[in-house]
Amino acid sequence: MKNTISTFISAKKSGEKLTMLTAYDYSMAKIIDECGVNGILVGDSLGMVCLGYKDTLSVTMDDMLHHTKAVVRGTKNALVVGDMPFMSYQTSIYDAVKNAGRFIQEAGATAIKLEGGSIVCPQIRAIVDAQIPVMAHIGLTPQSVNIMGGFKVQGKNSIDARKLIDDAKKIEAAGAFAIVLECIPSKLADIISKEISIPTIGIGAGVGCDGQILVYQDMLNMFSDFKPKFVKSFANVGDLMRDGFKSYIKEVNEGTFPSQEHCFKIDNEVINKLY
Ligand code: KIV
Repeated sequence: MKNTISTFISAKKSGEKLTMLTAYDYSMAKIIDECGVNGILVGDSLGMVCLGYKDTLSVTMDDMLHHTKAVVRGTKNALVVGDMPFMSYQTSIYDAVKNAGRFIQEAGATAIKLEGGSIVCPQIRAIVDAQIPVMAHIGLTPQSVNIMGGFKVQGKNSIDARKLIDDAKKIEAAGAFAIVLECIPSKLADIISKEISIPTIGIGAGVGCDGQILVYQDMLNMFSDFKPKFVKSFANVGDLMRDGFKSYIKEVNEGTFPSQEHCFKIDNEVINKLY
């Protein structure tokens, strides 16, 4: 069944859990979509897990549009959310609406995500006014890594925790249809999830969130640069890939691949005419 923002809002009302995963290309979007996930985020985590940057700050609109187009082509039923990269919405409300529009018009996404609390509410309101659904993102917001002083758990003291609750309420009032809660204590995520009527999608925010999201390379053990505490390895695809690549190298070296079944035939007559 096709997932829309109504699916997300209804799930919050009925208490049904929402599932999201990231994807960055056609083949992976197709596999993830076929498994029945509610939403696919083309995250700017692209910068780290696909492009090899140390953080997400170098990711551009062009990078994001290129990958979002591929994911949209591979997705039938999941809601595709394009992640707005650093400096595509912080600079002005005009830039925010213009760039959000590019995700919809050029890449075919259905919604966009941006990071930040009350500070980006004017952008959220303007993008929603332009009829583009917005998913917000608070807690550990990787585009603020330099202000935060690293990738750290957020909301651990009462001032920061109160600010996150206020931010969530303001984001809801600004018109967002969902909020990602990243790396915040579970009890705080429970409170936020209960105090707002739009779904919370947790990553490192405990089981009380209305849904969960993970970066697929993390949950399949394909990304080894670092492993955050909140990541569970659901399958060891990294090792499966290594085994596959090593078998290929071995068979090519031994001359056992390609065998007859993987080769094309030609009539001897044709070959004889060559001489
Ligand atoms: O960029 C991303 O993948 C994200 C998720 C981790 C929520 O923002």
